[in-house]
Amino acid sequence: MNRILIIGAGGVGRVVAHKCAQVADTFGDIHLASRTLSKCETIAAEVAKRTGRTITTHQVDADNVPELVALIREVKPAMVLHIALPYQDLTIMDACLEAGVHYLDTANYEPPDTARFEYKWQWAYQDRFQQAGLTALLGSGFDPGVTSVFAAHALKHHFSEIHTLDIVDVNAGSHGLPFATNFNPEINIREITAPCRHFEDGSFVETPAMSESCDFTCPGGVGTHRIYRMYHEELESLARHIPGLSTARFWMSFSENYLKHLEVLQNVGMTSIEPIDFEGRQVVPLQFLKAVLPKPEELGPRTKGHTCIGNIMSGPDKEGKPKTLYVYNICSHEAAFAETGAQAISYTTGVPAMIGAKMLLEGRWREPGVWNLEQLDPDPFMADLNQHGLPWQEETLEQNPFA
Ligand SMILES: NC(=O)c1ccc[n+]([C@@H]2O[C@H](COP(=O)([O-])OP(=O)(O)OC[C@H]3O[C@@H](n4cnc5c(N)ncnc54)[C@H](OP(=O)(O)O)[C@@H]3O)[C@@H](O)[C@H]2O)c1
Repeated sequence: MNRILIIGAGGVGRVVAHKCAQVADTFGDIHLASRTLSKCETIAAEVAKRTGRTITTHQVDADNVPELVALIREVKPAMVLHIALPYQDLTIMDACLEAGVHYLDTANYEPPDTARFEYKWQWAYQDRFQQAGLTALLGSGFDPGVTSVFAAHALKHHFSEIHTLDIVDVNAGSHGLPFATNFNPEINIREITAPCRHFEDGSFVETPAMSESCDFTCPGGVGTHRIYRMYHEELESLARHIPGLSTARFWMSFSENYLKHLEVLQNVGMTSIEPIDFEGRQVVPLQFLKAVLPKPEELGPRTKGHTCIGNIMSGPDKEGKPKTLYVYNICSHEAAFAETGAQAISYTTGVPAMIGAKMLLEGRWREPGVWNLEQLDPDPFMADLNQHGLPWQEETLEQNPFA
């Protein structure tokens, strides 16, 4: 029986708990731990109601390695699914090494005092995981995660090399609130307000945040949306692991309303991560803002519409002829909520986290070391996306819309 320990009981943690509970053959015994025990208990009660499965809950401070090691030794899981925040990546990796269990996350490490995602800290664990005979899967969400697997799938089945890669993440859903973020507000706003870095002619180029945009028409009636070029962590690992790649960009849609609110918040200093003195206390404005914004897990019942996330890739096909391929998934916010009680942003992250864990536990992805998903065989993961709620489609395009 495979026992797992999920850490983090936010929007994504909820989906991971539900999806793992649905796959009883692989996930025989599920434990859920987070900073706030009551959130774990709420999720466990919902999962019991929907699936009849029991989830055991725990309280843990994932910034504290000895506390984590004690919990892992008590639970004795085969692996830890880290679904808390990027700040905890290294403490949880340390605890997994010390307690001898496999590791998975959905977002790469970012130091709390510097808004800059980079893989260097986690890649530095390669030797230690290899020597311990343990596997760490980095970035098993949608982007990164599924987008990385889409690239590996395209390279395996369609291209001899991929030269340009554009990841397009459109959220065409609406929650009807003046301003809210679809996942952790602090992480989300740090990501969006950071300078853009994209990969061009074989090196990274930095431009001001949100300075490049265009309209993109999604398939499946999802509509035309304004998308903005921004930095996203998988660009770093894809540039390293996809042979022949010379240009890689990440685009995300934002509504005018969202951008207007963000601009005002930035202008008045509310998105700053520099602590300020407030009535004798040190307060980080962005953390205060997070406390007053709607919680991502509360958006589920209000969000309508679809997400459409995928990769547009160009390069020589297996015969050397030029080809452009679009691989994508369309996910309904309402269907995600009906199934798991969470909106599609949490759903599209939580399903691939479950599938990554399934790959590891079933021994399909069990090579010791630290891996980004594009380094692994995409076929079983692609098959499971179709089975577990994120069906994908692919079409050859006449022209690359970003050319
Ligand atoms: N790859 C992708 O496609 C993708 C997409 C979206 C999100 N993500 C990532 O998914 C992760 C979860 O996002 P989310 O929207 O679910 O965030 P969230 O709703 O804020 O949930 C985060 C959870 O982590 C818990 N937590 C935070 N610090 C902790 C600590 N020190 N010890 C124990 N638990 C702690 C929180 O506890 P409290 O409730 O007590 O605060 C909360 O339950 C984030 O890392 C995010 O970057 C990845």
